Amino acid sequence: MSKYRSKKYHISTYGCQMNVYDSEILAGYLENMNYTFTEEEEDADVLIINTCAVREKAEEKVFSKLGRLRSLKIAKPEMNLVLWGCMVQQENVIRRIKNKFGFVDLAAGTHSLKRFPELLEKARLSPKTVFDLETEEEKEELPIKRGHNIKAWVPVTYGCNNFCSYCIVPHVRGLEKSRLPQNIINEVKGLIVKGYKEITLLGQNVNSYGKGLKQNINFAELLNLLDRLEGQFLIRYLTSHPRDFSDDIISIIQQGQKICEHFHLPLQSGSNNILDLMNRGYTREYYLELIEKIRNQVANNSITTDIIVGFPGETKKDFEDTLDMLEKIRFDAAYIFVYSPRKGTKAAKMKKQVPENIKKRRIVLLNEIQNKISMEINKLLLGTEQQILVEGKSKTDPSVFTGRTRTNKIVHLSADKNLIGKFVNVEITETKSWTLAGNLKHII
Ligand code: SAH
Ligand code: SF4
Ligand code: F3S
Repeated sequence: MSKYRSKKYHISTYGCQMNVYDSEILAGYLENMNYTFTEEEEDADVLIINTCAVREKAEEKVFSKLGRLRSLKIAKPEMNLVLWGCMVQQENVIRRIKNKFGFVDLAAGTHSLKRFPELLEKARLSPKTVFDLETEEEKEELPIKRGHNIKAWVPVTYGCNNFCSYCIVPHVRGLEKSRLPQNIINEVKGLIVKGYKEITLLGQNVNSYGKGLKQNINFAELLNLLDRLEGQFLIRYLTSHPRDFSDDIISIIQQGQKICEHFHLPLQSGSNNILDLMNRGYTREYYLELIEKIRNQVANNSITTDIIVGFPGETKKDFEDTLDMLEKIRFDAAYIFVYSPRKGTKAAKMKKQVPENIKKRRIVLLNEIQNKISMEINKLLLGTEQQILVEGKSKTDPSVFTGRTRTNKIVHLSADKNLIGKFVNVEITETKSWTLAGNLKHII
């Protein structure tokens, strides 16, 4: 007699939090169909790769993974191999799948969530790859299996209207669309009742929330409504566009109880020439003023950023302007990327592409400088007491808990009782450029 075996699924997620959220929805559908999650790809009946297209490296990772999965699919032809998300929304990727990876069962883009069950069924019956490449979808009332029970992602906008000249996101995620405030508020309320302690509002440019809605509401007002909800929880949001970071948003953060004092403001470049070519809509002077306003108004803040080096036409002088901004502003942390040309974007067609060796040299130099600055800033926290929300255990050492300060700094601490989901005070005893460590003082 064969032993009953429940069907299993595995999802590998690349890219940003929006993709993490979409994977939670795919997992929600699969759990509703009685699938259970497995850590092992080989064990999965449905194997999903949720892809990112933001840089070539992210795409190459997926293609080499597909190459490795070819033999698994041959050995296990009944397994359903699904390629999902941003990459699939591009014609050149579709062509490559057709030419080289015909063993993929289903390839669906970012607007296919609602049809996932029927697409999976269709793919089972089809000898060829099933493609689904819609350009729009209504995303309310989807099932969800959240990956975490302390922190949750809640989209406020989908898509992006900014068309920064280097960026593929508007091309693969579509134009910006705000969710109705009552849907966001109800989702957050539901999460608080379930015991979630940290809500991260998601959107490619959360600051422009509300545009296009019948109801007159903006991001500052949404933050204010959420801050007033009952319960002990934190509010974070990703990502902000410096151009749309209004004075009202700063005031609400300053007055609010739950909104974290962490400002992630992608600068991208410190050169006005390059900012203009990037279509970012602000100057370095505007950005410096914004930082000053935040630092003057919000106590105990942290400011982080994203930088791209080697954008087409970036001269030595432009690069030095970026370096100068890092030194002037002294960010708590910076995520620095080498410019990656993306087919279909304006910048990919620009002349004066910067040679790879120069891009490399520039990123190494910026990282060196930023690491030193982050180290110096974090060192100031030595001996201080910080409140953190404990969110899990360290991947490398299960006796160590990890949490984050309101300013989004990761803190490790050892404790002999379970602290997950608790707000605690720690005394900082060790600091590095990306993480801190401390001793438990008391549970709040
Ligand atoms: N909507 C967010 C996230 C965009 S992607 C935002 O606007 O900030 C995250 C980061 O990837 C961007 O901030 C940018 O620094 C980087 N990025 C985007 N396109 C890129 C490209 N073509 N090459 C290198 N880095 C890129
Ligand atoms: Fe891309 Fe710019 Fe939109 Fe961010 S704001 S997703 S960088 S186009
Ligand atoms: Fe990547 Fe798509 Fe996010 S391209 S960064 S996963 S929106």
